[in-house]
Amino acid sequence: MSEASELIEHIVERYDSEDGMLIPMMQDLQVECGYLPTEHLHCLAKRLEVSLSRIYAVATFYSSFRLIPKGAHDVTLCMGTVCYLKGSPIILEAISKEFNVEAGGTTEDRLFSLQAVNCVGACALAPVMIVDGRYYDGVTPESAIEIIRSLPPAEELAEFSSRKNVK
Ligand code: FES
Repeated sequence: MSEASELIEHIVERYDSEDGMLIPMMQDLQVECGYLPTEHLHCLAKRLEVSLSRIYAVATFYSSFRLIPKGAHDVTLCMGTVCYLKGSPIILEAISKEFNVEAGGTTEDRLFSLQAVNCVGACALAPVMIVDGRYYDGVTPESAIEIIRSLPPAEELAEFSSRKNVK
């Protein structure tokens, strides 16, 4: 049994093989892998005896599902009313243009995934950008690009975490 089928088997068993529990199974898969890998979706379709097109219809309908891996960093830009009025659309446009990535997408080099969200509850700091959980206030298009440029590349992060795991 391949690694993918093993994981799918494990997830499907959690839900007593109920195909009506397809969405929670896909959510679990995404938690395990960080996204929905093609091989795993094929295994899931086979295991539940449902069509692959049904699985892809679910995966593409819900914006929380990802069909490609996330970037090494999470960049979230607040598009709530206060941030919006203070320039977040211009910041979003500048980031998209500079790094060739749309909101909801990941850069080609997988450096970061970009999200545009509603109010993050820090309106006094508007416009707000959150990078890997850290809040940046009063962001401008220039400072946003500078902050993102200063992020360690994906390879460095992978190297760092593999070193941490060596005892
Ligand atoms: S609108 Fe951006 S933090 Fe509230």
